Amino acid sequence: PRIVVLISGYGSNLQALIDATENGTLKATITLVVSSKATAYGLKRAEAANIPTLVFPLQAYRDAGKSRIEYDIDLAAKIKVYEPDLIVLAGWMLILSSEFLDHFAPKNVINLHPALPGQFNGTDAIRRAYEAYKRGEIQKTGVMVHKVIPEVDSGELIVSEEVAILETDTLDDLQTRIHSVEHRLIVAGANKILHELNVH
Ligand code: GRF
Repeated sequence: PRIVVLISGYGSNLQALIDATENGTLKATITLVVSSKATAYGLKRAEAANIPTLVFPLQAYRDAGKSRIEYDIDLAAKIKVYEPDLIVLAGWMLILSSEFLDHFAPKNVINLHPALPGQFNGTDAIRRAYEAYKRGEIQKTGVMVHKVIPEVDSGELIVSEEVAILETDTLDDLQTRIHSVEHRLIVAGANKILHELNVH
């Protein structure tokens, strides 16, 4: 099966997917990496793994007076060329509208989010969980992989895992613990969906 990965930054989750395809724990080929940022370090990871890359910044559309919807439609067209069985959002920081999602059956687009279902949707989830813990509002947090629908971080759950928060944790400690769970869960989520899609 063919996977297209969308990133916006460091790409540690992309790296986890690359490593998994190389060591056989993810029986798929990453055929394209799209970044919404030209400066994303994840692009270097893709290049090092000889994976084609596409830099597709939203700002260029804004500068040209084009709409967000045009961006989504064009992004979908460019990705369709690669005929992905699965699109993985791995640190992708843009909300994708139904103009994009409708091109790929909802089950074919999955997202990794560093929080438990319904807890801290949107950006900066780890920091928001840490601060909620410090206020005594939560005892633990987690990571999830879910199917992407237009509502942010709200699609059908594929896999999730709780992550402990320790009294001694700094925000950095929690981020490190969460990222290590992410790197495992993004591969598990991709495998689960590919199995469901029964693509080989
Ligand atoms: C991760 O916490 C991811 O879940 C979030 O962005 C962070 C960066 O991930 N969306 P990566 O290192 O760019 O994969």
